[in-house]
Amino acid sequence: MNSVSMFKAILSFTFISVISLKPVVSIARHRQLVGEKRLTSFANDHLVTNLPGQSQVDFRHYSGYVTVNEKNGRALFYWFYEATTHPEAKPLVLWLNGGPGCSSVGYGATQEIGPFIVDTEGHGIKYNPYSWNREANMLFLESPVGVGFSYSNTTSDYDILGDDFTANDAYAFLHSWYLMFPSYRSRTFYIAGESYAGKYVPELAELIYDNNRDPSLRIDLKGILLGNPETSDAEDWSGLVDYAWSHAIISDETHKIIRESCNFESNNTWENKDCSESVDELMRQYHEIDIYSLYTSVCMGDSASSYNKSTRVMFKRSSSMMPRIMGGYDPCLDEYAKAFYNRPDVQKALHVSDGHRLRNWSICNSAIFSNWTQSKFSVLPIYKKLIAGGLRIWVYSGDTDGRVPVLATRYSISMLGLPITKRWSPWYHQKQVSGWFQEYEGLTFATFRGAGHAVPVFKPSESLALFSAFLLGEPLGHSRTYPMRMTC
Ligand SMILES: *[C@@H]1O[C@H](CO)[C@@H](O)[C@H](O)[C@H]1NC(C)=O
Ligand SMILES: *[C@@H]1O[C@H](CO)[C@@H](O)[C@H](O)[C@H]1NC(C)=O
Ligand SMILES: *[C@@H]1O[C@H](CO)[C@@H](O)[C@H](O)[C@H]1NC(C)=O
Ligand SMILES: *[C@@H]1O[C@H](CO)[C@@H](O)[C@H](O)[C@H]1NC(C)=O
Ligand SMILES: *[C@@H]1O[C@H](CO)[C@@H](O)[C@H](O)[C@H]1NC(C)=O
Repeated sequence: MNSVSMFKAILSFTFISVISLKPVVSIARHRQLVGEKRLTSFANDHLVTNLPGQSQVDFRHYSGYVTVNEKNGRALFYWFYEATTHPEAKPLVLWLNGGPGCSSVGYGATQEIGPFIVDTEGHGIKYNPYSWNREANMLFLESPVGVGFSYSNTTSDYDILGDDFTANDAYAFLHSWYLMFPSYRSRTFYIAGESYAGKYVPELAELIYDNNRDPSLRIDLKGILLGNPETSDAEDWSGLVDYAWSHAIISDETHKIIRESCNFESNNTWENKDCSESVDELMRQYHEIDIYSLYTSVCMGDSASSYNKSTRVMFKRSSSMMPRIMGGYDPCLDEYAKAFYNRPDVQKALHVSDGHRLRNWSICNSAIFSNWTQSKFSVLPIYKKLIAGGLRIWVYSGDTDGRVPVLATRYSISMLGLPITKRWSPWYHQKQVSGWFQEYEGLTFATFRGAGHAVPVFKPSESLALFSAFLLGEPLGHSRTYPMRMTC
């Protein structure tokens, strides 16, 4: 990177400080002093060379902290895996998990789509042959501060976390990260995520899209990919309720009361007693099973109380926001991940700590969830803007998830009123129906048959096939004999 682009990158931080009202100008000064040479050697400092239990691989991976606000001392933790082959020719993809308060390292990287996933036998890690870094350079970010290893030295930051705060810090992160990895600065870029990241992903995409008007800040964002995404609170609640009824979780009577008494578009939905009581009844039923995967067993863990301890079904009701339920997946996998990331040798290898003064890592931070100060009611207006801007939007849905069910996503998409360009039909993988899909002008929607909330956990090979089609902008396999993409 030459000094002009360095200077432009420095400008970007000043700009962020204006929009976030959190001065980060000092970062710029710091970067200026440190100089670009030192920054690329930071990247080498972040190279992971001795991750315990890691199998031998041919690609490099890096992890560590990136300061996003020097004044308050905010640092976000990332883990970056180069593509398994030809990383220089493949796009860069940022993956985000939701919550709010849940870790993209604990879920995305080590339970879903990363190359090293938690091993349910040995409680370490094992190689994942369906890792998405077969198709792209994959960047996992723990966001916002307070999630996973990410932190702030200013504790009052934790009281003001919300959607906009998260997007601004993620945006600052990207520009700082590019300084360390300059060869990715102009690389084709996508953002992907699931669950509450259904809000984060479009929000960050919009920030990038708007700031791209300034050529010096330009990021080559081409599209977004969303899995079982929270999208529009009213549609998400209607879908959750109708899905629970149509999947025999609640009775006709309970469903009828909810439909008659709940106005999910209002700001005081829960003030209606019939509504709140019947939704409580729905949640009681979901507490008996795994809302994130209706037809699999629940994790009972080592003790009967571990099921209770799980953060899986958490409500928050407040007058200013629609209530949310904590995002989360298999609580047994969660425990293995927690044990792994709290190991001194693992934290040292990942450049989190010196191996003595450890950081407490947990998969979801419930305090962040409880204290979330701002949430967009709907990101559908952002969809419209990005579609008009020519970005690729793909939305997929595991059809056995009760938390952000396929019905919720269909209700949201139908609100967009997009013209259909390819009518509902099955898509195939390895000669079997993976699910169904429909193409619209500007958006592709696909289901995964028999997959829960975190789709790649259930359908790793099919998920990789969809990811590959998304990156290429190609249709999904639309016939049983569709040439199979090699997946392992
Ligand atoms: C936070 O404070 C610690 C201890 O003073 C310091 O080592 C660290 O660099 C600070 N983090 C940031 C992002 O400024
Ligand atoms: C709900 O509250 C938000 C923010 O306070 C406001 O913009 C919106 O108009 C309100 N909606 C209704 C239906 O009152
Ligand atoms: C689980 O929580 C419920 C409700 O809080 C409580 O009644 C029950 O005793 C708990 N069970 C265990 C095994 O801790
Ligand atoms: C981590 O948590 C333990 C207890 O749960 C506590 O003793 C320790 O001080 C914490 N460490 C850090 C770095 O916060
Ligand atoms: C939320 O923030 C307040 C104010 O800082 C704090 O007292 C409270 O403990 C936080 N809530 C949770 C659940 O951590």
